Amino acid sequence: MLTAYIRDIVRHPPCRRQKTPKGTFPVTDRRQRDLIRYGKTKQCNRDYWLHKLDVPKRWFWHFYAVSVVWNGLLLVLSLHLKLQNQSYPQWLTYFLSFLCGMQWNESQVPQLSTLLVQLFLWSHSLRRLLECLFVSVYSEGVIHMAQYMFGIGYYIILGLTVICSNNFLDAKGFGSLFHQLDLGHLSGTALFISASLLQHSSLVTLAMLRTGNSGTVKTFVHGVPHGGWFELVSCPHYFAELLIYISLGLVFGGLSLTWWTVVSYVLFNQALAAQLCQEFYMTKFEGYPRHRYAFIPFVL
Ligand SMILES: NC(=O)c1ccc[n+]([C@@H]2O[C@H](COP(=O)([O-])OP(=O)(O)OC[C@H]3O[C@@H](n4cnc5c(N)ncnc54)[C@H](OP(=O)(O)O)[C@@H]3O)[C@@H](O)[C@H]2O)c1
Repeated sequence: MLTAYIRDIVRHPPCRRQKTPKGTFPVTDRRQRDLIRYGKTKQCNRDYWLHKLDVPKRWFWHFYAVSVVWNGLLLVLSLHLKLQNQSYPQWLTYFLSFLCGMQWNESQVPQLSTLLVQLFLWSHSLRRLLECLFVSVYSEGVIHMAQYMFGIGYYIILGLTVICSNNFLDAKGFGSLFHQLDLGHLSGTALFISASLLQHSSLVTLAMLRTGNSGTVKTFVHGVPHGGWFELVSCPHYFAELLIYISLGLVFGGLSLTWWTVVSYVLFNQALAAQLCQEFYMTKFEGYPRHRYAFIPFVL
């Protein structure tokens, strides 16, 4: 998948792709590119049969609805385990043993880090769900059915990954939740709140390109966002997503290698999406500010 990402950026930027006669690239290539691009960066000549696998991008809210329910359930079960000395249900310990690659120890009690990350993941999903339903204005953009299925599965696996990461925290010792509180929790929480605010304000700016100040939808076309972090990067909401995942890594005290693997995935995935978005803007809008970076201010 990563190879396909890199090849897509290097070999087929959308501006050149639009001028390429249909059929120039092998079918496998076209299929791969269709699996990577979504929404506005997908709006090019595509084979007829590829449209059959499209689902509306406005269905993004399904991911977050699943996440709110599933990760909310996992959070409640972890709180029961910690506060009322109950054990995880058998089906969950089975899943955890399978995913963590070790026998799940029933006496394993979630640490403050795990509970906080579960809480932040749930609140992030809830905010995104509300933004999808009540803030963002979606056009007729589409995503691939495989991307849709992946998105649903992603938030289910992510919740289990958080609980598995608890294994790495044993070295920090047990004790009351309050006594476990350290600088990692505080700095992670501060970064999580700041990044969430940045992401929310960026999504409001994008929505206002279609509604203006009145709040009534006037257009579904794509415009050039201005103001705030949009003056530095084309996609501050993708940058904020990365910061949110890094903040959860800090809450884990930087100890969970599994979590940093998740962060790496988000880094690649959002960097690619930002790069494609930047190219879309450059191609579509002649006067698009050339000094803007795509993803990370002054870096990428
Ligand atoms: N963790 C992950 O793996 C992951 C993966 C994907 C997304 N996300 C997060 O989910 C959030 C949304 O992602 P996204 O890819 O949907 O963002 P996006 O493509 O920027 O779209 C966000 C909203 O803004 C609209 N929009 C985008 N560009 C616009 C423009 N130039 N003018 C007017 N409206 C515009 C979109 O409408 P249309 O596209 O319908 O036109 C949509 O309603 C982001 O914060 C991202 O970080 C996370």
